[in-house]
Amino acid sequence: MSTLSVPHLLGIKDLTPEDLDLIFKTAEQFKEVINRPIKKVPSLRDITVANLFFENSTRTRLSFELAEKRLSADVVNFSAAQSSVKKGETLVDTVNNILAMKVDLVVLRHSAPGAAYFLSQHVDASIVNAGDGAHEHPTQALLDAFSMREALGRDNLKGVKVAIVGDILHSRVALSNIFCLQKLGAEVLVCGPNTLIPKHLHELGVLVESDLNTALEWADVANMLRVQHERMDLPYFPSLPEYIAQYGVDRKRLEQLSRIPVIMHPGPINRGVELSSDVADSEHSIILQQVENGVAIRMAVLYLLAAQRTPHYTS
Ligand code: CP
Repeated sequence: MSTLSVPHLLGIKDLTPEDLDLIFKTAEQFKEVINRPIKKVPSLRDITVANLFFENSTRTRLSFELAEKRLSADVVNFSAAQSSVKKGETLVDTVNNILAMKVDLVVLRHSAPGAAYFLSQHVDASIVNAGDGAHEHPTQALLDAFSMREALGRDNLKGVKVAIVGDILHSRVALSNIFCLQKLGAEVLVCGPNTLIPKHLHELGVLVESDLNTALEWADVANMLRVQHERMDLPYFPSLPEYIAQYGVDRKRLEQLSRIPVIMHPGPINRGVELSSDVADSEHSIILQQVENGVAIRMAVLYLLAAQRTPHYTS
């Protein structure tokens, strides 16, 4: 069996194009499984996974939990809000206490960039980064690329033009998508107000465009990002109505294009801000397909990481 080149999934930056291919091929098989009447396989029987969420999540947390259950893993869930973290316990102490209960894999979401890497250096378990601050969100980028391939009817993304639009500065999804799409041979453009585009982003080899109509006319796919009000300690644009006028996508804007791109959003959506409801719910949007594909991608990642730790469990 092929294996990943890494013992943890900390970021897309660490993966090779062969890793990406292996994850997509494995996810294709699991997508077929989760569309059967009996959606469960015994691949991770006797493997225990801890989902540690130190930051809010709906999609990622539920998607990992469902992926683990579809693979027949034993699952424990931890949410910082109801834990002894509130009494001052450190991340490493928290995780070591959980590992003492014989946990094999840890899925971690944390507000600190590098938290998943830090954990991987201090505990004996495979770590999956489910989002670390504004750094990386690797499974989101994997499910996004998988969904693009599916929507475009292609088995690769070579030469595909992807515009990432909105609050790039605070977005872990943007960075993981840039790394993933470039490794797959896609062209990437970022579009947003200058204040929400990191100064040195062009050094990553992406195009930078401030005009949304130009970006959408260029793109095969537009991945719309949420304005992350909760991470903004400064006013990055004059007002929300002005942001919407310049960077919001509604049907009228799409209908002026010579060709409408595939519309994506990682969620949660600020409806009426980055996307109007008539676009979010339109035939051009693949937002719910992204969510469905998230389960198959996370099953693939967990399966491949578990196979490295305990090859006798998976075959
Ligand atoms: N896309 C995403 O990470 O959503 P959640 O914050 O709800 O997990």
